[in-house]
Amino acid sequence: MRIELRSDTFTKPTKEMLDYMFNAEVGDDVWEEDYTAKALEEKVASMFGMEAALFCPSGTMANQIAIKVHTQAGDEVICDYTSHVYQYEGGGIAFNSSASVKLLHGDRGKLSVNLIEAALREENVHYPRTSLVSVENTTNKGGVLVMI
Ligand SMILES: Cc1ncc(COP(=O)(O)O)c(C=O)c1O
Repeated sequence: MRIELRSDTFTKPTKEMLDYMFNAEVGDDVWEEDYTAKALEEKVASMFGMEAALFCPSGTMANQIAIKVHTQAGDEVICDYTSHVYQYEGGGIAFNSSASVKLLHGDRGKLSVNLIEAALREENVHYPRTSLVSVENTTNKGGVLVMI
């Protein structure tokens, strides 16, 4: 198998992987009959000690849902100016969450505690509420959202 790390969709699945997918039990999620996705969600929830998990078929979808869940309209999200959530998700923070963004200039995407602390807004009726810091793994896909 040739592993190609430019993005997750460059590596082609092997025949065994395709066979496994082809034979997986599938069904309707709303009717709770998608047993394979359900098993995955339960496994991941238990791995991370959470009550439940939600399978998201793309990173962008996971990021946008997480931002929506952790903000209210008018809030401010802190992230690096190179971050995927800001640069490559079609303005989704504004569109989906009606939130604004405070961009920081980290070290190749890495945000230090000092940078973040200096960007946190104090409570003041004139300011947006800082409710979220988005920290991305700069060497690989994966984001972490820190709720304030
Ligand atoms: C941090 C981060 N979030 C999200 C994505 C997008 O994921 P997807 O292409 O599955 O929507 C990427 C893509 O590389 C990423 O690096």
